[in-house]
Amino acid sequence: MPTQVQGVIARSKDAPVELTTIVIPDPGPGEVVVDVQACGVCHTDMHYRDGGINDDFPFLLGHEAAGVVSEVGEGVTDVVVGDYVILNWRAVCGQCRACLRGRPWYCFDTHNARQKMTLLDGTELSPALGIGAFAEKTLVAQGQCTKVDPAAAPEVAGLLGCGVMAGIGAAINTGGVTRGDTVAVFGCGGVGDAAIVGSRLAGAAKIIAVDIDDRKLTTAREMGATHTVNSKETDAVEAIRALTGGFGVDVAIEAVGRPETYEQAFYARDLAGVVVLVGVPNPTMEITLPMIEVFGRGGALKSSWYGDCLPSRDFPMLIDLHTQGRIDLAAFVTERIGIGDVEAAFEKMHRGDVLRSVVMI
Ligand code: APR
Ligand code: ZN
Ligand code: ZN
Repeated sequence: MPTQVQGVIARSKDAPVELTTIVIPDPGPGEVVVDVQACGVCHTDMHYRDGGINDDFPFLLGHEAAGVVSEVGEGVTDVVVGDYVILNWRAVCGQCRACLRGRPWYCFDTHNARQKMTLLDGTELSPALGIGAFAEKTLVAQGQCTKVDPAAAPEVAGLLGCGVMAGIGAAINTGGVTRGDTVAVFGCGGVGDAAIVGSRLAGAAKIIAVDIDDRKLTTAREMGATHTVNSKETDAVEAIRALTGGFGVDVAIEAVGRPETYEQAFYARDLAGVVVLVGVPNPTMEITLPMIEVFGRGGALKSSWYGDCLPSRDFPMLIDLHTQGRIDLAAFVTERIGIGDVEAAFEKMHRGDVLRSVVMI
């Protein structure tokens, strides 16, 4: 029987989000219904609301979620009813060229549930990033579910579904940060702080946090930054060189998405240093780089897509490290809120007041 539950939708461009009744169909082949327990509020949800992603309104928002499998469709073998799972927005095919060449994070054929969740009048909903988890239940593909240790609280586990994984993965997967490395992280929001946590986990010797907001630098230190630079007051590149014996860093991680921080990351790297771009640029953003500097410094400019993660490999590992007390993912949860408070959480996010607000369901 299709189930009616409460969910948060964006009905039309720029309108505030609303809590309304939605209909979850019975799971079809390969599909899973999840009882959502917690879902973090991410910038991407706000971009959907504002029409910045596409015009497929109405959207069912929310995509950083953990919960318990409540129903499975035909042929589902990855999970069973009762499993505690983190949802991901890249269920890979395993067959395409990228998958076969061992780079499934660039899979050409990711997929979501085939059936649509709807409003009561039958209007089809577009789930944010193919998830839609500001809701009591959601319908996803089995490949979007990764079983993890239920000892981790859902408000913590869900965060690995997007921003925190993107940041940790930017450091350990894309940047390949290793013991003894020097690292600079530009932008200390949820993604940048997660890159700091990932760098510390990997054994970086120096982790230099760069931001224009002193509040963010204080949190960055708590997360594991060994040095901080306020780039509104100081030239970030000069400060980083001074902190690294004149060399620059082995890995420079950009987690803002602005031209000035892209440039700073580029110039802050040592010879053979790696620049990791995880901040999403505006589609028309351009920067000019002198090719002699690109050529002469060696190394690499890399972008990090969802932290180049493999959910089945990375989610259980990071949850285990968290439950063992070796990384603190709970530090990313600034506040727990109700399902009716998403619009207010967008405001706080916009003002830079929170790392993550998490909707508890
Ligand atoms: N220089 C340094 N830091 C800056 C600058 C700047 N010019 N402008 C903004 N910042 C800082 C902000 O003060 C804030 O601490 O960047 C941080 C951005 O954090 P959030 O807004 O919380 O964003 P977050 O969720 O961390 O995402 C960062 O990564 O995945 C992408 O789409 C995401 O592009 C976004 C980026
Ligand atoms: Zn594939
Ligand atoms: Zn997100």
